[in-house]
Amino acid sequence: MFCYHEILALSLLGRAVTAQQIVNGQIYTPGIAIVDAPQPNTPLGGGESSLVGSSPSLLTVTDFLQVALDVTSDGQLQLPPYPSNSPTEIYNITIFLSSYTTGKNFTISNGTATAGNASLGEIMEQEPSSTVKHVNWVWPDCLVGNGPALSGDNSSRGAYNISIRQNFKLNGTNMYTIFDLPIEVTNEISANDSRPSCNSLNNNLLTQNALNASANNFSRIPGSALDTSNGKGSGSGIGAGSMVEWRTAVHWIWIASFTLMFAL
Ligand SMILES: *[C@@H]1O[C@H](CO)[C@@H](O)[C@H](O)[C@H]1NC(C)=O
Ligand SMILES: *[C@@H]1O[C@H](CO)[C@@H](O)[C@H](O)[C@H]1NC(C)=O
Ligand SMILES: *[C@@H]1O[C@H](CO)[C@@H](O)[C@H](O)[C@H]1NC(C)=O
Ligand SMILES: *[C@@H]1O[C@H](CO)[C@@H](O)[C@H](O)[C@H]1NC(C)=O
Ligand SMILES: *[C@@H]1O[C@H](CO)[C@@H](O)[C@H](O)[C@H]1NC(C)=O
Ligand SMILES: *[C@@H]1O[C@H](CO)[C@@H](O)[C@H](O)[C@H]1NC(C)=O
Ligand SMILES: *[C@@H]1O[C@H](CO)[C@@H](O)[C@H](O)[C@H]1NC(C)=O
Ligand SMILES: *[C@@H]1O[C@H](CO)[C@@H](O)[C@H](O)[C@H]1NC(C)=O
Ligand SMILES: *[C@@H]1O[C@H](CO)[C@@H](O)[C@H](O)[C@H]1NC(C)=O
Ligand SMILES: *[C@@H]1O[C@H](CO)[C@@H](O)[C@H](O)[C@H]1NC(C)=O
Repeated sequence: MFCYHEILALSLLGRAVTAQQIVNGQIYTPGIAIVDAPQPNTPLGGGESSLVGSSPSLLTVTDFLQVALDVTSDGQLQLPPYPSNSPTEIYNITIFLSSYTTGKNFTISNGTATAGNASLGEIMEQEPSSTVKHVNWVWPDCLVGNGPALSGDNSSRGAYNISIRQNFKLNGTNMYTIFDLPIEVTNEISANDSRPSCNSLNNNLLTQNALNASANNFSRIPGSALDTSNGKGSGSGIGAGSMVEWRTAVHWIWIASFTLMFAL
């Protein structure tokens, strides 16, 4: 049974109501992965530990952007390699740190590591025996500083989305979803000559319309079952995917309401 700590169903800019949910501090994405950390709207950066989530023992530290992703949906799906013809599996996960405010769109992982792991290799292949993938990404140079960017600063600090994109098959249906988790890069990030350059990691920003059109409209209900029968016939669940019409459009985002919690 689940205890529903926080259930958010808020909308932004009049878009369709989104209803991804946080259950016991875990954020259910529109996909198979579950975000254990960070929580939405957490101020992040290096230099200081920041308390996140509802659990006092959960700390995110410092010189890395850290994202913890449970890729088994709390044990509902096994780790790769998946059985052949598994009706449910994660093909790959890419992650970007992007912002319409600062105009930046940094690669955290596009599947291919660059020198010094400035951008990371395939998330699903790291920590092969771990159900939780710990993404540790070195903050690049233009995010160095402390507090919000001031006018005149040559800084790209500020509001970002950790944009988590999943290519996966759920109950036999291939899907691609985008999940934008908002954070604030405002904590201290120390200068260091070994930081990757922002220019080497930056990509073009696409319009929201283009993103909307590229992703499937899918919302995962926390705790809802996954068909992992491997085609061996576990009954009525098989084929359920084909009865559902996955319409195109919509990517998901977490909105506000945590700000006060962290301001205390
Ligand atoms: C994205 O799709 C939703 C649902 O169709 C819509 O409400 C919203 O306006 C779209 N956003 C953009 C920028 O197209
Ligand atoms: C985060 O993503 C949402 C769409 O999911 C977008 O409306 C918002 O502007 C983005 N935030 C930033 C800082 O770019
Ligand atoms: C992710 O998987 C999809 C579907 O199999 C594939 O089309 C895409 O090229 C893969 N992307 C990466 C970065 O591996
Ligand atoms: C990236 O990190 C992985 C795991 O720590 C390591 O095995 C690999 O050599 C690193 N790659 C590069 C290009 O630094
Ligand atoms: C601003 O920072 C970028 C990289 O973050 C750098 O390439 C550029 O030279 C800097 N510009 C100035 C005027 O310092
Ligand atoms: C810069 O980073 C390197 C590698 O992470 C570290 O060994 C070194 O102490 C750092 N230097 C400073 C001045 O923080
Ligand atoms: C992956 O990201 C790195 C760093 O931004 C970039 O150099 C590389 O070209 C990208 N690879 C692909 C296939 O997009
Ligand atoms: C950021 O760049 C990547 C790689 O080009 C792209 O897939 C992604 O959609 C971009 N994000 C935004 C918000 O435009
Ligand atoms: C997205 O899916 C939800 C739930 O199935 C549905 O209510 C909504 O109309 C869909 N939006 C679009 C743009 O298809
Ligand atoms: C996936 O299959 C399981 C098991 O049959 C079923 O309980 C669940 O509702 C299905 N989910 C979707 C989104 O179709």
